[in-house]
Amino acid sequence: ATTHHEAESSPTVCTGTVDTDWPGYSGSGFCNATNATGAYVQFAASAPSAGTATVAVRFANGTTAGRTADLLVNGTKVQTVSFEPTSAWSSWVTKTLTVTLPAGASTIRLDPTTSGGLPNIDYADI
Ligand code: GCU
Repeated sequence: ATTHHEAESSPTVCTGTVDTDWPGYSGSGFCNATNATGAYVQFAASAPSAGTATVAVRFANGTTAGRTADLLVNGTKVQTVSFEPTSAWSSWVTKTLTVTLPAGASTIRLDPTTSGGLPNIDYADI
C-alpha cells in the first residue's frame, strides 16, 4: 500500500519554509527548502517487511537547470537524483524512485548537493 506524505506536514521535515505562492500543490502548501547544500526534505516511511519500495516525489523546478540531490535511506546515500526543470514553479511533475527499505520505520532524505538546493517539493507517495 502507498502512504501519502505531504512535504509541509509533520513528520516530514522541511529545511526551509512552507509556501503557498505557486498554485497546483496538494495539501496546505509545499516545502521551499533553503537554497543551499544540505537543506533537505526528509520523509518518514514505514514498511511491513523488508524489500523494494517506490518513492513518487512531486516537485516543481522553475529554473532552467536541474537540481541535484543525494537520496539517503536511514542516513546512507543510495543514489543521486536530478530534478529536471518543469518549465514553471507552478508546473508540478512526479518523479518515481526505487529504494530498498528494511522492515519498520525508515527515513528517506533528499539532500541537495549544490547551492541551488532542492526544487519545491509537494509530497511523496511511498
Ligand atoms: C523562487 C520561487 C521559489 C523557489 C525559489 C528557488 O524564489 O518563488 O518558490 O523555491 O525560486 O529557487 O528555489
